[in-house]
Amino acid sequence: MDILIVGSGGREYSIALALDKDKDVQNVYMAPGNGATNKFAKNIDISDFEKLADFVEEKKIDLTIVGPEAPLVDGIVDIFKKRGLLIFGSSKEASKLEGSKIYMKNFLKRYNIPTASYIQTDDFEKAARFIDTLKEPMVVKADGLCGGKGVIIAQSAEAAKNAAKDMLSGDSFGDAGRSIIIEEFLDGYELSVFAICDGKDYKILPAAQDHKRLLDGDKGPNTGGMGAYAPTPLIDKELYKKIEKRVIEPTLLGMQKEGTPFEGVLFIGLMVMDGEPVVLEYNVRFGDPECEVLMPLLKTPASQLFFKAASKDLKNLNLEFYDKFAVAVVVASQNYPYKSSTPSEIIIDKSIHVELEETHISYAGVVQEDGKLYATGGRVLLCIGLGDSIKEARDRAYMLCGQIHFAGKQFRHDIAYQALKNDR
Ligand code: AMP
Ligand code: GLY
Repeated sequence: MDILIVGSGGREYSIALALDKDKDVQNVYMAPGNGATNKFAKNIDISDFEKLADFVEEKKIDLTIVGPEAPLVDGIVDIFKKRGLLIFGSSKEASKLEGSKIYMKNFLKRYNIPTASYIQTDDFEKAARFIDTLKEPMVVKADGLCGGKGVIIAQSAEAAKNAAKDMLSGDSFGDAGRSIIIEEFLDGYELSVFAICDGKDYKILPAAQDHKRLLDGDKGPNTGGMGAYAPTPLIDKELYKKIEKRVIEPTLLGMQKEGTPFEGVLFIGLMVMDGEPVVLEYNVRFGDPECEVLMPLLKTPASQLFFKAASKDLKNLNLEFYDKFAVAVVVASQNYPYKSSTPSEIIIDKSIHVELEETHISYAGVVQEDGKLYATGGRVLLCIGLGDSIKEARDRAYMLCGQIHFAGKQFRHDIAYQALKNDR
């Protein structure tokens, strides 16, 4: 099978790595890929969807997998399907679950799926009145896509009003912020739950935990995610059941009723409060860095998972995972998430102390020049460790982190702390 992956980050790198190990896969193409993906894939510099579909036809590529949300929200799946090409991802209409927070919140309300109480508005006075009814802190969210940065946890009503004003004026996020959500703050622990869906059936993956804040101890600004681990012990059979019955199944039924059956990755960002799942958000793609810990745990060949989902045959998939844990630590550039950094060379120590099988790097923000890799900013790479316990996986990931160098590298030192509270 030949496969095209759309995207360029660590998430897409980890999917390519899983396909590289899969003996049913011959050629992997990536559009556009990054400076490290060309080790095992062919990078293709085409972004126009019709031209990409031409390329897929010309090369007779069997399946396309879409990594990030932007091409999904922009309708890549609809274009490929219209041309009879097999593609894994959600349609433009179904991608509104991620593309518009207002659509998502109203959907949750319509189908009685638990979520934080909220209002939507484009009017500052209405926002200010609702803010005054909430306990501090409270949350202000831009409606549209903001690269994971459109959510402000405001510690005071005044800060919330300032955030609302900046969003509504277009100052902070342009048009994406001209409509906003104000909602109550939920106090609990977060889980990332993924269901692979084919419009009728779904398969749930082991739950993961992300670390959204920049600094240790969950301090500092929200980022795209600074590290993840899976499976998390913060979920048991009973909670999985509640998530399936109260969230996943009503969501998939709701999407069918809306005339937009859901295919692709349903990523549910959950807050667990007193053992009850409450939906923070949906995304229509894998989480990044969650994907980087889920892919190496996958025992079923990755091509089977994506192929059967894209061809609406999930019910015939036997999905298996290794009985192991994975931890990913994001190594970011100096100025992340505030601004870009100047490129710096990445040096990796020659002596890797742990078994190579049990650690690896997923590259994200890198370019290659004259055979050297340079960190180009943002989230540069992820150090992933596998192990028979979370602690072992964590220690391996951090050992690898210490063997990678570039000017200004920063990372969190406490990834998986919630799972390791009693086990340091
Ligand atoms: P979202 O993009 O909506 O998932 O928000 C990004 C992050 O902001 C979440 O992963 C949470 O850490 C935090 N967050 C969003 N909404 C809330 C809320 N209502 N209460 C507490 N934290 C929240
Ligand atoms: N890791 C969270 C996200 O991808 O949105």
